[in-house]
Amino acid sequence: MDINEHIADCLAEKGYAVINNYFADSFCQELREEQESLFEDGAFRSAGIGRGQDFKLAPEIRGDKVLWLQEANLTELQRKYWEQISVLREYLNEALFISVNGFEAHYAVYPPASFYKSHLDQHAKTRHRIISCILYLNPDWQPKDEGMLRIYNPDGSFALDVAPVIGTFVCFRSADIPHEVLPTKTDRYSITGWMRNDTFML
Ligand code: OGA
Ligand code: MN
Repeated sequence: MDINEHIADCLAEKGYAVINNYFADSFCQELREEQESLFEDGAFRSAGIGRGQDFKLAPEIRGDKVLWLQEANLTELQRKYWEQISVLREYLNEALFISVNGFEAHYAVYPPASFYKSHLDQHAKTRHRIISCILYLNPDWQPKDEGMLRIYNPDGSFALDVAPVIGTFVCFRSADIPHEVLPTKTDRYSITGWMRNDTFML
């Protein structure tokens, strides 16, 4: 079965999909190197919660540091990532009858002891985020490093824990799937994006 078809089926049946080799190993390794050098250059900022006027830092809720990708100014690697996601986005558009016409993404680093408490990715006021996509970039991750992504079913019951190992790619329905990042013991790298419906108006 085509991998995009598999992702669409999982999203339709369970609300989430976890895939191991969606992006080539060497490509993930290059993304990791780019992220690490941008992080060491001090390009990342503490993430917060809320949008626009409601934005605030909230270390008791989330402790990651992020760098937003600029669609008009992507590096060559970031463009490759963006383009592969666009192929999936267009596939899901038709397969799931959703309207996802945009994408936004950031690199994220969770420093030791940081976490992100259980939440939904779709904001209550601006319901633009439809499908969340996370690609993990930790080549040396081991169970003792923790920092698992904990995914819940739409009814709130536990579904599964995902290790943030390089190459693991997770997608889920932003409005339906509660999830959290359990406290990590070491720097935890990822690229997180959201397929958006920018024509959606409340
Ligand atoms: C997020 C998020 C999960 C992860 O950024 O909204 O839930 O595993 N990230 O990094
Ligand atoms: Mn989230």
